[in-house]
Amino acid sequence: MSNTTAAWFEDRIAASVAPLLPGFAVEAVAEIDSTNTELMRRARAGRTEPVLLVAERQTAGRGRLGRPWQSAQQQEEQQASLTFSLGLPLAPADWSGLSLAVGVSVAESLDPSGAHRIGLKWPNDIWVNDSKLVGILIETALPHAGAPGAQRYVVIGIGINIGAREADGMRTPPAWLRQWRPDATAPEVLRELAEPLVRSVLAFEAQGFAQFAERFAARDVLRGREVVLSDGTAGVCEGVAWGGELQVRTAAGLQAITSDEVSVRPRGMAF
Ligand code: BTN
Repeated sequence: MSNTTAAWFEDRIAASVAPLLPGFAVEAVAEIDSTNTELMRRARAGRTEPVLLVAERQTAGRGRLGRPWQSAQQQEEQQASLTFSLGLPLAPADWSGLSLAVGVSVAESLDPSGAHRIGLKWPNDIWVNDSKLVGILIETALPHAGAPGAQRYVVIGIGINIGAREADGMRTPPAWLRQWRPDATAPEVLRELAEPLVRSVLAFEAQGFAQFAERFAARDVLRGREVVLSDGTAGVCEGVAWGGELQVRTAAGLQAITSDEVSVRPRGMAF
């Protein structure tokens, strides 16, 4: 494996997170198939330590619903994408809404004041002006022998467009951070969002999604919009419930949609 080309602040990030997550480490690699795939492989082999794995290049990055996730090409020797996964053992009483809580945390780190109108597209995309800035893929591994109680190993994979990229066949046009932060670099962005992300995930474990519901609502890009569900049902979004379900008013009444059931697009956008 080749050396990383950037300085990833591994020690600084690890030092700020370790008091929250004992044993936490940060690993940066130049190239890997997928940071999610690697942490899931490790978990299946019984390696369930808390870790953040960042890769400068993924050769087989994965998105939701079995789709590939392509990173933008390097630009002037700088990372044009930030691709990383956070893996940790977790035992929330209820898993619903974890991806929404992660979205809230990342959106707030990237746009604390809301000035850049970074919004959340249920269940786990981060959009700016109907263009996708961040994708989130969450996977869990079954508990290994000896893991306490209801604990599972969760892998939270995050891909952020840092530099300009072409829309080349993407279902949602891309947005990128340097559109309004021209000097943004992937290592800096990782440093800004890693600790708040861990805090948010631990807060979710302790108290569930309800504590994030108002903050999600403040950035909810679907609220009040006409949408079409992947089963063809049309309706108008009425926000997200305290358990993280998307509420859609359809001809049949108010439906509470969970992310396992269907995907949702604003009317007029392709699935
Ligand atoms: C999506 O929008 O479909 C989710 C995209 C998630 C991409 C990230 S990049 C880091 C991590 N490793 C992967 O293979 N996928 C996630």
